Amino acid sequence: MADESFDVIVIGAGPGGYVCAIRAAQLGLKVACVEKRPTLGGTCLNVGCIPSKALLQSSEKFSEAKGALAAHGITLGEVGLDLARMQARKAEVVKANVSGIEFLFKKNKVTWLKGAGRIAGPGRVAVDGSEYATKHIVIATGSESMPLAGVEVDEKRIVTSTGGLELDAVPGHLVVIGAGVIGLELGSVWRRLGAAVTVIEYLDRIVPGTDAETATAFQRILARQGLKFKLSTKVTAAKAGPDGVTLTIEPAKGGAAAEVTADVVLLSIGRRPHTEGLGLAEAGVAADERGRVRTDARYATNVAGIWAIGDCITGPMLAHKAEEEGVAVAELIAGQHGHVNYEAIPGVVYTWPELATVGATEEELKARGTAYKVGKFPFTANGRARAMGSTDGFVKILADAETDRILGAHIIGPDAGTLIAELVLAIEFKASAEDIARTSHAHPSLNEAVKEAALAVDGRALHI
Ligand code: FAD
Ligand code: NAI
Repeated sequence: MADESFDVIVIGAGPGGYVCAIRAAQLGLKVACVEKRPTLGGTCLNVGCIPSKALLQSSEKFSEAKGALAAHGITLGEVGLDLARMQARKAEVVKANVSGIEFLFKKNKVTWLKGAGRIAGPGRVAVDGSEYATKHIVIATGSESMPLAGVEVDEKRIVTSTGGLELDAVPGHLVVIGAGVIGLELGSVWRRLGAAVTVIEYLDRIVPGTDAETATAFQRILARQGLKFKLSTKVTAAKAGPDGVTLTIEPAKGGAAAEVTADVVLLSIGRRPHTEGLGLAEAGVAADERGRVRTDARYATNVAGIWAIGDCITGPMLAHKAEEEGVAVAELIAGQHGHVNYEAIPGVVYTWPELATVGATEEELKARGTAYKVGKFPFTANGRARAMGSTDGFVKILADAETDRILGAHIIGPDAGTLIAELVLAIEFKASAEDIARTSHAHPSLNEAVKEAALAVDGRALHI
């Protein structure tokens, strides 16, 4: 006998799951959401997007106070770091966000089933000794940090992002394994707060998958800020002792091993789907070779009435991607036509300057055999960026050589994560570079660099 029955039970209350629950409730369905953490919001709000951005913001202010403000004629006395206060502020930011989701659940009459959920059979979900009946189950259980053989995480000296957000002292030397998004964001935080930071990356480049020219320029800027990079290098072991951690490294393609010592090691080599204990195999739900729940283009698994979204399925592991899928699956369940345009999902690295991208890279266009034009404009030629004293980076737009349609955009620069929105919308609306070039952009604004890059696609940038 079921304790209670629902139209939809969502398992996992991250950005995919909680947004799905709210949208399904908006559509008049009776909805429950199962979450095993003590708070709602998933990885993103508790130990991901939000706490990392809080520390990025605070550490950026610290580094401005230490140096950059002097160029504006602002002199300060000795600048001190109260890390405990910085961490407490981060916790307050997280608390405000997670309790916001609890409020939204109440407002939308979504029932929060507290505990770990398991699919007990078709249309049945078990949560800590109780069982609930439902017409639809949405799996939104997210992801977890990828382990590395020979590197045992203790979340004190050898940490994942979760421990890396909680350090109570600035490490003398932080070694980051993996030059991806987490490594560069958290590497930047601790570098700004005073740590020496070495980033060890297996490949011969940073942020794989990003436009290669843009990634090279980004690496140069981060190196100027003091991040040291060891590319084409693999870590084969890390041993924590009383005085720190000793890592064994080797050239990626073989060669002599060497040792590196660190006070703290951050393991950030990617994330893997989190589906343990969910009863997927027993329920007959198929997974792919990387453990991701297999779905069709409408987020349906191979078992009728079971759907999946977010980090635990294919695609970029991003909060806004999970959210879009949450909305789409709720609408599909309600008989509507939910859809996600994967061509127009932005990706942002929230360092300073930020790196923001959407759509195709040059490498992808070459591989597809698509003829394209490039328009580039540097922030050194943008009046507002000069006034801000933040001229690192550029806007790069890739447009179809024949139709002028925008196919991709890559920005390094101040507030690139906000600037990219214009180009995401352009791609969503299938706009041409000419459309942006002929649109009035406020002066003096950073967005003028986007307009100038669009003009540059046709070789007619005005300010360079
Ligand atoms: P999750 O957010 O992982 O949520 C899944 C939830 O399901 C979890 O709360 C988990 O406890 C729960 N759960 C799992 N199994 C069960 C079960 N059996 N029963 C009950 N509950 C269960 N993305 C961005 O777009 N921007 C960023 O700036 C950004 N920063 C990040 C920084 C860090 C340090 C990390 C680690 C990630 C970051 N991400 C960022 C990625 C982002 O957090 C994820 O893409 C996003 O959280 C995925 O959402 P989700 O709903 O699929 O899963
Ligand atoms: P990632 O996939 O971004 O980067 C992992 C890096 O580690 C890659 O460069 C990879 O080549 C490298 N690597 C893999 N194995 C290695 C090894 N054995 N030795 C050395 N290097 C190795 O993964 P990351 O940074 O862990 O982030 C996980 C996910 O979280 C990402 O998918 C990202 O989308 C998401 N995230 C998003 C953020 C944002 O949107 N701002 C912020 C933080 C995380």
